[in-house]
Amino acid sequence: MRTLRLALEGRGYPIHIGDGLLARGELYAPHIRRRRLLVVSNQRILSLYQTQLQSAIGEFESVLIPDGEGAKVLTTLEQIVRQLLERRYGRDSVLLALGGGVVGDITGFTAACYQRGIAFIQLPTTLLAQVDAAIGGKTGVNHPLGKNMIGAFHQPLAVIADTSTLHTLPEREYRAGLAEVIKYGLIRDVGFVDQLEATMAALGARQPQAIAAAVERSCRNKLEVVMEDEREQGTRALLNLGHSFAHAMENAQNYRGLLHGEAVAVGICMAARLSADMQLLSGVAVERIHRLIEAAGLPCTVPAGLSAARLRECMAVDKKASVGVLRLVLLEDIGRAVVVQDVHETLLMDCLRACGAS
Ligand code: NAD
Ligand code: GLY
Repeated sequence: MRTLRLALEGRGYPIHIGDGLLARGELYAPHIRRRRLLVVSNQRILSLYQTQLQSAIGEFESVLIPDGEGAKVLTTLEQIVRQLLERRYGRDSVLLALGGGVVGDITGFTAACYQRGIAFIQLPTTLLAQVDAAIGGKTGVNHPLGKNMIGAFHQPLAVIADTSTLHTLPEREYRAGLAEVIKYGLIRDVGFVDQLEATMAALGARQPQAIAAAVERSCRNKLEVVMEDEREQGTRALLNLGHSFAHAMENAQNYRGLLHGEAVAVGICMAARLSADMQLLSGVAVERIHRLIEAAGLPCTVPAGLSAARLRECMAVDKKASVGVLRLVLLEDIGRAVVVQDVHETLLMDCLRACGAS
């Protein structure tokens, strides 16, 4: 097991990474002593990991939410809150988020809101959640007009990332998580890009050592950024490489097309192309990025049926747009990202079309 520590004034927490951690009671003990617990998960995940969790914390109460991005909405939060109230959960309760980014985001946001804030622990079971969503305290739900538009910063008490849970992940979900892994290399860690190029075959085959190394290096990158800029006043925005494009595609498809990580992969390719179009990045670097995304089994182009006009409309509600001005994370080099806000409309629309939008 490796333990990293996210240090924040008074709210720091451990990030435990390793095989078989869900069942290790001593990792939970410091955070849950004499406190009432409620596990939030979905049926699929709970049936896979109930036994492991029971051996760590004993019999537990749970609330199950529907599976999928469609559940990341205010009505689901209301249902969890209803359960908390009906079962008389108090302010010293702890929520345990057992699942992927959807469960983690909504559980964290429920914890942020319930009785003005209770504690929660992240037990991420997807690659995407282990390397990204579970760390850093961004919590929230979607609104029909935009993804993650309702939310709060609320840090967990701990993150327990059991990498053995990744072996039951469907192939498409696993590969989607690789997009966020690649993202860290591209924005701030060129050595990680070299490592990923060398180990992508092993990672694709879910070789445990390759997974452990990639998860740990991703988490290290993420926590360094969060420690520098918890509230996204500056550097943290760089973690959103490809995300403005991705959120627009997800929203335009009503969250029923590309998986989030797949959309991020396409978004990264779009950001790379736009960076080259703006003379920030070389064509050689763009090709290298495409090769890595493709080696991870991820898409590089916009799915059929999405128009550039619709995507541009969805991009306008992005959280990074300030006073109507679109702000995009682009690349100056592999391993060096930058926020740009003077993107020429024509260049942007040409880029959307060149990447497959109609
Ligand atoms: P997800 O939570 O929908 O999980 C993917 C699927 O895998 C689901 O069907 C789930 O039931 C299933 N699953 C989960 N763990 C499993 C396991 N071990 N074995 C088998 N099946 C399993 O998707 P995700 O990719 O984990 O998360 C996506 C969400 O995360 C999006 O809503 C995105 O906005 C959010 N996100 C948040 C942050 C953040 O900083 N808070 C960062 C990145 C992404
Ligand atoms: N996933 C982006 C962030 O945590 O800031």
